[in-house]
Amino acid sequence: MKILESAPYRYDKGIKILTLGKIDKAYDRLIENIKKDDKVLDIGCGTGMLSFRAVLKEAIVTGIDINPEMLEIAKKRIDEFEVKDKIEFLEMGVAEIDRFENDSFDIIMSGLCFSELSEDEITFTLNQVRRILSKDGKFLLADEIKSRSIIKRIMNWLLRIPLVIITYILTQTTSRALKNIEKRISESGLIIQSRKSNFLDNFVEMIIIKEDKK
Ligand SMILES: C[S@@+](CC[C@H](N)C(=O)[O-])C[C@H]1O[C@@H](n2cnc3c(N)ncnc32)[C@H](O)[C@@H]1O
Repeated sequence: MKILESAPYRYDKGIKILTLGKIDKAYDRLIENIKKDDKVLDIGCGTGMLSFRAVLKEAIVTGIDINPEMLEIAKKRIDEFEVKDKIEFLEMGVAEIDRFENDSFDIIMSGLCFSELSEDEITFTLNQVRRILSKDGKFLLADEIKSRSIIKRIMNWLLRIPLVIITYILTQTTSRALKNIEKRISESGLIIQSRKSNFLDNFVEMIIIKEDKK
């Protein structure tokens, strides 16, 4: 999605085309886990697609992102939602999330950002998520993945060709997918409570927790 972010004003439109609209439904489902007054961190918040959903549920939201242009759009939208005192956007990379205190957030969420991180950043971020998430907190993750099934990978590749071309013409964008994210999550000591992927197994939504209460 990096090329898309080079033209942030086209981002929201481009992302909906690239994901065939499934992004909105996935985000709506994940946001159901948020309650009034929850402290929420949105990692790689971009233009605020997840952050604003959370604030509409009366959560207190911090969105962080490394791209100032994406953040500028998010900040402009604050007035639109009239939620000034409940939301902040910080220009900050994942490498800096060690500045948050232990157990600071009831909810940590991230949409389509992990697929842009380096291997080292993914490891670091997952470890930090475990540290800064509250004991009963939830980490909500939605991202593109590489299916483990070779057949689905081929189907996905074939189906994506026209989509990638159309999207590229309209928005000058393309995208990339995460490999073995479930294994990485488990290795960081977090627990996948639920996992939902689509038919092609190329997009996943996960609810991840710190402690299994069973
Ligand atoms: C595809 S966009 C997703 C934005 C938003 N979460 C959404 O769902 O619309 C990925 C975002 O991750 C951000 N990002 C990429 N690498 C990052 C990093 N190392 N630290 C923080 N944000 C990062 C990008 O700047 C971009 O805004």
